[in-house]
Amino acid sequence: MHPAVRVGVVAAVLGSSAGDSGTLPEGWRAETTAIGERMPPSEAPRFDGHRLVRPDAFDEWPLAGASLGLAYSPGGAAGGVRSETFHRVYVNPASYRSFLRHGTFPEGTTFVLELYEQADALALPARRGRYEGRRVALEASVKDRERFQSGWGYFDFGNGAQRTAEPFDSATCHSCHVEHARADSVFVQFYPRLRDALDARR
Ligand code: HEC
Repeated sequence: MHPAVRVGVVAAVLGSSAGDSGTLPEGWRAETTAIGERMPPSEAPRFDGHRLVRPDAFDEWPLAGASLGLAYSPGGAAGGVRSETFHRVYVNPASYRSFLRHGTFPEGTTFVLELYEQADALALPARRGRYEGRRVALEASVKDRERFQSGWGYFDFGNGAQRTAEPFDSATCHSCHVEHARADSVFVQFYPRLRDALDARR
């Protein structure tokens, strides 16, 4: 099924529980969205005009998945296995929980993708294996159906030093996500816990 259609179906099913305010931790704003989910202000994306402010707390968020050398074009990395980068994908905690429980990402969901190059040399006592060296990229995606026609905005913060970033047009980033990602334009097929949660709902 097309991801956008699937979200619509899940939203309709969840609609009946949208009024349930539950028990929110202190400081949470009970913000009901189209699918009855809530986003705590500390995790909500911040914009400066139309630019996304780098979500600095992301390294305290759940790690959705990690991979090595995942590439989007055919052929090996130009510099061989040693030039493959480590990928880490983080997601804000409320959205992580929402997906595990309901199989949906609420409005305001933020993902961060970090790329690390491999460290040059082994550090003793390690004699084999590879580990992360310098961070070379920090990208983000934000679910916001009001701001972005495709439903998701995509951003590139260079190596992470940049404080804000412009949204990309959807042909640059979203087109591949919407075509190939398994749930709601998110590559859940590469994120073990989220993938398991989705499989369990089938
Ligand atoms: C040709 C396909 C393709 C294109 C184009 C693409 N991505 Fe992705 N993206 C992926 C794949 C595959 C993953 C899975 C995780 C990984 O790569 O480590 C991913 C994951 C992500 C994630 C983590 C959340 C998720 O949706 O799974 C972010 C954030 C992200 N990409 C940002 C971007 C940005 C920003 C652009 C445009 C500059 C972009 N992507 C363009 C294929 C693509």
